[in-house]
Amino acid sequence: MKKQSVSSKKGEIEFRKKLFQQQVEKKSFLNNEFNAEEIEKILNNRIKKTIEQMIMLKESGVCLSPFVEIGAERCQRALAMRNDLNAIGAAVDISFDMLKSCDYYMRVFSKSEAPLRICCDANSLPFRSDSVPFVFCYQTLHHFPDLTPIVKEIHRILSPGGHFFFDEEPYKKVFHVNLYKGKSIYSKESLRASKTKKVFDFFFAEKSCNEVDHGIIENEEIAIAVWRQALNSFQEKNVKLQSIKNISSELFNPKHYMAFLLAYLFGGNISGTCRKAGSSIKSEISILDAIICPLCIENGRESKIDQENPWFSCSECGNKFPIIDGVVFLFSHKKFEELYPDIFIKVIRK
Ligand SMILES: C[S@@+](CC[C@H](N)C(=O)[O-])C[C@H]1O[C@@H](n2cnc3c(N)ncnc32)[C@H](O)[C@@H]1O
Ligand SMILES: [Zn+2]
Repeated sequence: MKKQSVSSKKGEIEFRKKLFQQQVEKKSFLNNEFNAEEIEKILNNRIKKTIEQMIMLKESGVCLSPFVEIGAERCQRALAMRNDLNAIGAAVDISFDMLKSCDYYMRVFSKSEAPLRICCDANSLPFRSDSVPFVFCYQTLHHFPDLTPIVKEIHRILSPGGHFFFDEEPYKKVFHVNLYKGKSIYSKESLRASKTKKVFDFFFAEKSCNEVDHGIIENEEIAIAVWRQALNSFQEKNVKLQSIKNISSELFNPKHYMAFLLAYLFGGNISGTCRKAGSSIKSEISILDAIICPLCIENGRESKIDQENPWFSCSECGNKFPIIDGVVFLFSHKKFEELYPDIFIKVIRK
């Protein structure tokens, strides 16, 4: 199992700090990145889509609360969960600046209630095993060299019978020739490209992404077999491959083999809902009861932590975890110092 390196984690943190400066503080740094107005339009569309999808999931019997969103970034989807769908939960990300930007986006999108915001590492989620009924993520699983350890963590924290929903993730294109370098996928230029250009790029452009220039992983090469293996531990799996035009297929037990073959060859996006075996969902549990001490996790213990502002503290090991600008830092001290040395020195080593 390949794990995300410390330098990739730092790349995520540093790049998103610059995004905060550009899109929230309105200082211009990154030429090919969206400005405040442009990103807010995009986020507004993401909110609408999330609400539609979550309503559909709820109607199909998925319990949406309490939830954990992995890679929540600016928290706009968790804000929609809390304010439009009455679901309570936690927005998790490794980037403090993105979680901090939630306050700003609450004002922009007129949302009054914030989710619990946790700055932590998805490789080691500070949640009790078998505790959370609903975990979801968008555009996040491909930020890891191997999605398997992340999905394993998600499966661990889900309550028996709980659901995991994911969307907007890529899967590998088998039929693809790199004839030229494409424009960055999330750039303004790529969004402006004509339809024909987009189809041509799909088959012949070498993928490039702004984020990669900042040391971030953009893993577009996750093969169908890897997706299958990573999700296999779930009892029920409803996972869709969406390729070019109208080509789509189920990942597990496809009904039409030709559609599956074409979807396999051409690559595209993957999304789905998976259910963990069992049936003991406790929607009445508080998300605060599910969070545990990141230091005790390393010693194999799942110890509850309690909020005593401006800290969360562990009664087992006595360690404290700061809440800064509304964001709780739940890393082991070693990881905290490695990823956020300035904050660590100021608040823990002072
Ligand atoms: C493309 S963004 C997610 C976009 C967001 N979900 C949305 O739909 O608007 C990927 C996110 O994953 C986060 N991330 C990357 N590595 C992580 C890790 N090890 N633990 C937690 N979050 C991580 C990044 O900080 C980033 O915010
Ligand atoms: Zn502890």
